[in-house]
Amino acid sequence: MERTLVLAKPDAVQRGLAGTIIARLEARGLNIVAIKLIQIDRPMAERHYEAHIGKPFFEGLVRFITSSPVVATVLEGNRAIDIVRQTMGETDPAKATPGTIRGDFALDIGRNLVHGSDSPEAAQREIALFFDQAELLSYDRSLDPWIIES
Ligand code: RTP
Ligand code: MG
Repeated sequence: MERTLVLAKPDAVQRGLAGTIIARLEARGLNIVAIKLIQIDRPMAERHYEAHIGKPFFEGLVRFITSSPVVATVLEGNRAIDIVRQTMGETDPAKATPGTIRGDFALDIGRNLVHGSDSPEAAQREIALFFDQAELLSYDRSLDPWIIES
């Protein structure tokens, strides 16, 4: 079982698409392990996007991600990291396949609605940045055998 951090970014919350985005990932069968609305401040943004410090788009990215609350969630499932990234679509919505979240709802790389961890190491680091251990809940779902052949 893998866990991944997903953010419905400020543009998603402002456009009333946070629920739609999470619903798509939930409908795929991923399990919600944690969820909250949170205002990211600059130090937290710098930690979350530390891999991008120094890049030309970094300042705009920090300004954007701190501009309004985000909905943060931890989703769990087999290969959750890849599955979320595929369901999100390409970073640049102009290149994202229709049917993906970005391919259906976004136009611009700086307003691409959703974040998903890109590796197991990033997922572990990002989950710890957004959630305390006590906020991560493990539970069984009776429908799991209808989603996963075990
Ligand atoms: P994210 O981290 O937000 O989930 O997005 P991602 O993995 O698909 O893309 P990443 O390479 O990690 O970039 C983080 C965010 O920075 C903005 N960006 N702008 N102008 C540009 O060339 C550029 N490249 C990246 C995007 O908003 C991207 O989501
Ligand atoms: Mg990324």
